[in-house]
This record gives sequence, structure tokens and C-alpha cells, in this order.
Amino acid sequence: MGLDLMLMGLPGAGKGTQAERIVDEYKIPHISTGDIFRAAIKNGTEMGKEAKKYIDKGELVPDEVTNGIVKERLAEDDVNDGYMLDGFPRNMVQAKALDQFGAELGKPLNCVINIDVDPQSLMERLTGRFVCRDCGATYHKVFNPTKVAGTCDRCGGHNFFQRDDDKPETVKNRLDVNMKMNTPLLDFYKQKGILYNVDGNQEIDAVFAAIKQVLATIK
Ligand code: AP5
Ligand code: MG
Repeated sequence: MGLDLMLMGLPGAGKGTQAERIVDEYKIPHISTGDIFRAAIKNGTEMGKEAKKYIDKGELVPDEVTNGIVKERLAEDDVNDGYMLDGFPRNMVQAKALDQFGAELGKPLNCVINIDVDPQSLMERLTGRFVCRDCGATYHKVFNPTKVAGTCDRCGGHNFFQRDDDKPETVKNRLDVNMKMNTPLLDFYKQKGILYNVDGNQEIDAVFAAIKQVLATIK
């Protein structure tokens, strides 16, 4: 059993930002349901068209769709030695489904890292975010700009975009929807003894250092 990890946190908490660093350091596949949906939307698939209806409103995509996608992904061989889920599970139906198919596949979660951020700062983080179109690296206009203006630090690309769901009205609904579901999920993983809280109100590198400290106790 490898590091079978889930990154939890409200929209804008820094899941994707920390995931980039975790992937580089621990070499485990990053499974972000949000990224999977955005790729499907870009490719114009039926699943993407369906998901877009919900994502544009800041609502959750139906559980049957999301659970099926993650179950299929975890059945692949490249996750036999570890994986990192980002943004899944997001409610108790998904958490229970993962418990079941994770056990069936012999890949149950063994660590949940909750990036805990003061909700008041999330709006500012999301409305200032921009993403590299070529490699997916995430930046922020103020908190995490590229080193050279207009050039991605990670891949050298020059094309960036803002996510459609980062408009203030949509962000507000995303925060409301996710906040409701957060507490039961935290309780569920706390009871299992696999929940680790990390203070996400710090600089990006300090958050990563705290995550590494947790992971050192698991691996
Ligand atoms: P998803 O893509 O997962 O979005 P989310 O949960 O809203 O989270 P974000 O990706 O917006 O935030 P993040 O925590 O990754 O933050 P980031 O690192 O980018 O999901 C999108 C949608 O897909 C959902 O709304 C839903 O419709 C659907 N969906 C996805 N999963 C689903 C599921 N399981 N079930 C049903 N539907 C699902 O950072 C944000 C910004 O802050 C960046 O600009 C970054 O540079 C900056 N930043 C990061 N860390 C710091 C720091 N420490 N200090 C200052 N700034 C920071
Ligand atoms: Mg993300």
C-alpha cells in the first residue's frame, strides 16, 4: 500500500496549488475531479456537456456521474502504488462510495489532508487566480504571480486563462454549497483516525512544509 491520499479544502483553499508540489515530490498520480470535468468540457464529450450545466452554476455534478469517473480511474494500474484525490469526495454519498470501491480495489484511503483556510480570504484567492493553458499550473495575480510576467514558471508557456466558475456570483454559490457539506465529511474522516488538519492561511511554501511533515508520519 502506498500513499493513498485525499486533499480536502473549500474552493480556493489551495488543493490544486499543493497538489502540483506533492506530485513533484512524491510522484503519485493527481486525480482532480474538477480537472477531469474541465477536460471533458473542453473536448466536448457528452459527460462534459452534462457536467457543465452544474459547474457553471457552482453546483455539484450528480454523484452517480462523479463516483463512476473516480471508480474507473482508481481501477487503473498507475495508482497501485499511491494516488492523490483532489476535490473528491465532497459529500457523504461520495465518501461512502469511495469507502466501498476503494476497499474492493485494494486501495482504501489512508490519509486525508484538510487545508483549513479562513473563508473570508477565499473570494479574493479565486477571483485573482489564473491558470496556464499548457500545463495547468495555478497562479494568483497578487499572492503567486509568475516569476517573469506572461511566462509560466513550470513549462515556459505564454497562454493563461481564468476559470469560468471564478466569477464572483458563481464563487459565492460554490462556497455556500461546499461549506454545507464540509463538516460531516471532516467528522467522518476524523472518526476513522485519518484526518490531518493543515493551516492554509500561510504562504504557499509554508503550507507545503506542513503537508510534508504530515506525510512523513504516514509513509
Ligand atoms: P474544483 O476544480 O475542484 O474546484 P473547487 O473545489 O472549487 O476548488 P478550486 O480548484 O477552485 O480551489 P483549490 O483548492 O484547488 O485552490 P487553488 O490551489 O487553485 O471543482 C470545480 C467544480 O467541478 C465544482 O464546483 C463542481 O461543480 C465540480 N466538481 C468537482 N469535484 C466534484 C465532486 N467530487 N462532486 C461533484 N461535483 C464536483 O488556489 C486558488 C487560488 O489561491 C490560486 O490563485 C492560488 O495561486 C492561490 N493560493 C493558493 N494557496 C495560497 C496560499 N497559501 N496563499 C495565498 N494564495 C494562495
Ligand atoms: Mg483546484
